[in-house]
Amino acid sequence: MTSTLPAPAAPAAPVGDAAPGGTAAGGTAAAGAGGTVRVGTDRPAGAVADPMTIGRYQVWPPVELAPMAGITNRSFRKLCREFGAGLYVCEMVTTMALVERNPKTMDMVRFGPQESPRSLQLYGVDPDVVRRSVELIVEDDLADHIDLNFGCPVPKVTRRGGGSALPYKRKLFESIVSQAVTAAAPANIPVTVKMRIGIDPEHITYLDAGRIAEGCGAAAVALHGRTALQHYSGTADWSAIARLKETVTSVPVLGNGDIFSAQDALNMMARTGCDGVVVGRGCQGRPWLFAELAAAFDGRPSPTPPTLREVAAIMRRHAELLCEELGPARGIRDLRKHISWYLRGFVVGSTARLDLGMVDSLDDLDRMIDQLDLTQPYPTDAEGPRGRAGSPQSKVALPHGWLTDPDELAVPEGAEIGTSGG
Ligand SMILES: Cc1cc2nc3c(=O)[nH]c(=O)nc-3n(C[C@H](O)[C@H](O)[C@H](O)COP(=O)(O)O)c2cc1C
Repeated sequence: MTSTLPAPAAPAAPVGDAAPGGTAAGGTAAAGAGGTVRVGTDRPAGAVADPMTIGRYQVWPPVELAPMAGITNRSFRKLCREFGAGLYVCEMVTTMALVERNPKTMDMVRFGPQESPRSLQLYGVDPDVVRRSVELIVEDDLADHIDLNFGCPVPKVTRRGGGSALPYKRKLFESIVSQAVTAAAPANIPVTVKMRIGIDPEHITYLDAGRIAEGCGAAAVALHGRTALQHYSGTADWSAIARLKETVTSVPVLGNGDIFSAQDALNMMARTGCDGVVVGRGCQGRPWLFAELAAAFDGRPSPTPPTLREVAAIMRRHAELLCEELGPARGIRDLRKHISWYLRGFVVGSTARLDLGMVDSLDDLDRMIDQLDLTQPYPTDAEGPRGRAGSPQSKVALPHGWLTDPDELAVPEGAEIGTSGG
């Protein structure tokens, strides 16, 4: 049996069957006993997992929208939240840009009124700058949850010793996490760590990093089961998530990598014992995946996948939100990168697909949508892996001599990046 998807078109669309009789869906927080704040929907009797605990937040379902630069802006977070519930993490911002109050970054860290808790991801390499950025977050009340990015594999980041290169320097990693945790403590803001398995098969860092983060007071650790060398190629190694779960025993372990369906999420939880899942590419062009995840964790039937008419309405809503957030010109341009994900598997025709990829106003979008055969059901070949994939990197770019001494504490020169975003 299946149920229908919640309608996305209304500005504050309810989650409908994704939130049966629950608290307001999409992550509205409610205070409970002992300072615990319940986030998301009520966990029903037939639920198939426990809530995910992130500091004082008890999150149901145990699902997090992965931070994705250029994707998880306010509009996309709002759209995903309208379908499901959990934690929805902002695009990464750099600690240097925050400390310098870079205008673009200050705009990126604005959250919508429905976003509670406000989850912010920071990228930083210098413990002192990281501390100052967290102090600023506390002083200006900018976020309720801070995630630290130690997973970015892109050369412009690893070349400076940041992202997935950093945990190799154990003491530097420890210093960053502990400075962030200490600075966030007065505001009771949980700090979590998101990382990869390591740099490459010869330089595996996740078990040490997990132990260190736990020791420093991180509220949870999330592992993407790939090395930096793998980039987004191949498959994520879920057995590493299981090993991390055996190693980190006092705080939740979140699993990440290759969750493209609700069943994948349940499989990852069952195979690894992880406490929650982090979902990235699977929801690109498919924000309703959060309704499917909510149903699966609640133990309810999966909603019926949307027809092309429903997908087009969701895409239209995404476009409206982007135009509101970024202005009409930037907003509609930003939508372009999502269009092929939304249309995947539908019979649309190459000309229409090309035109849609160049759409330059909401009216234009409406006109193009009207020309499609909107009666098509959701295509089975739209299932499975989506988004960035590609080949492994031939070599991970690292600062000169990076691998010589894992205990070196020095911050690599020019490591901090002053602009945020992907
Ligand atoms: C376009 C894109 C941008 C990303 N940006 C970030 C980021 O800013 N911070 C981060 O920690 N991970 C980032 N990631 C990695 C994802 O958070 C996630 O770890 C990765 O995609 C694996 O999960 P998945 O298989 O569910 O996609 C990004 C991934 C993609 C595809």
